[in-house]
Amino acid sequence: MVQKIQDFAKLRDGRLVDKYILENTVGTKVEILSLGAVIQKLFVKNKEGEMLDVVLGYDKVDDYLNSDYQGAVVGPYANRIKDGSFTISGETFNVTKNEDGKNSLHSARSFTDVVWEGEIISNSTVKLNHFTKNLTEGFPGNMKVSVFYTLNDDNSLEMKITAVSDSPAVINPSNHSYFNLSGFDSGDILDTVLKLNASRYTPVDSEKIPTGESANVKGTPFTFLEPKTIGERINFDHEQLKNTNGYDHNYCIEGFDGSLRTAAIAHDKKSGITLEVQTTLPGIQFYSGNFLNGQIGKNNTPMNFRNAFCLETQFYPDTPNNPLFPQCTFKANEEYKSSTIYKFSVG
Ligand code: GAL
Repeated sequence: MVQKIQDFAKLRDGRLVDKYILENTVGTKVEILSLGAVIQKLFVKNKEGEMLDVVLGYDKVDDYLNSDYQGAVVGPYANRIKDGSFTISGETFNVTKNEDGKNSLHSARSFTDVVWEGEIISNSTVKLNHFTKNLTEGFPGNMKVSVFYTLNDDNSLEMKITAVSDSPAVINPSNHSYFNLSGFDSGDILDTVLKLNASRYTPVDSEKIPTGESANVKGTPFTFLEPKTIGERINFDHEQLKNTNGYDHNYCIEGFDGSLRTAAIAHDKKSGITLEVQTTLPGIQFYSGNFLNGQIGKNNTPMNFRNAFCLETQFYPDTPNNPLFPQCTFKANEEYKSSTIYKFSVG
């Protein structure tokens, strides 16, 4: 079932925001805002049968403006671009350097602080459309982007994204949900057990920009090939963990070929909830909420250090400057298409 709440909220600047509520037959419920295509609430049953909202975020829609991207679809380029600069066919583009004036992060506010146009497609799917103008935050292309959120009865929330530009463009959107499988207000995520289907990851420098290598996780705190709690090795004396103050790295998903593959499985013992992330994309950013520092979120609950984890499916960070990474520069009128599934189970 999909329900639309027209004009759910009015932003300080007068813009109106709609809400879409998707509910399946087993009671899972997702609330989506037309601002930033944000997943604002995601209710899943725990092992006792109680509904938990497993994503962090805000009650007040205004708080999503200039946020740390809670729940939003970021783009056209998720994560960082070194020096906010890249070249396509000899033409250099300088994009907004919103991280300490040095690098570009999540394309600044290009996709997130805009109101998308919603459309109910079926009794389980809502589609959000956004048209971004050439050189918004410096990124090339008049681009049409659509996000299809589908909530299935098997408790999977599918996110299909399509985008097309009228000139060559880098296209790499991602959803930036912050998960806590014990509930948004239940403290840190260090006991969450994580499995990542990746034997390589992309190390970064002290500005969190990939060095260009892909390193083997074997024998390091970065291996999650066998399930491990997030907290077990997070404070190990490892240069990469110091560079990012915890986990904040792109993992190279095993056997990328554009088909849907399992990238990550996270399990919370307390609630019994498991989240499996599947994607057609080559990378997944595992971020352990290291920048959360007490911002007041839903129900007046502070979002403290490591109170959530993110699993952002993506092309690797800074791909336009790394020719050896799987590429995401698209020709004029060539369609970008990806699918990511968050599947929940309990037990
Ligand atoms: C993540 C990124 C982190 C941090 C976060 C937003 O995708 O890897 O370094 O910037 O977004 O606060």
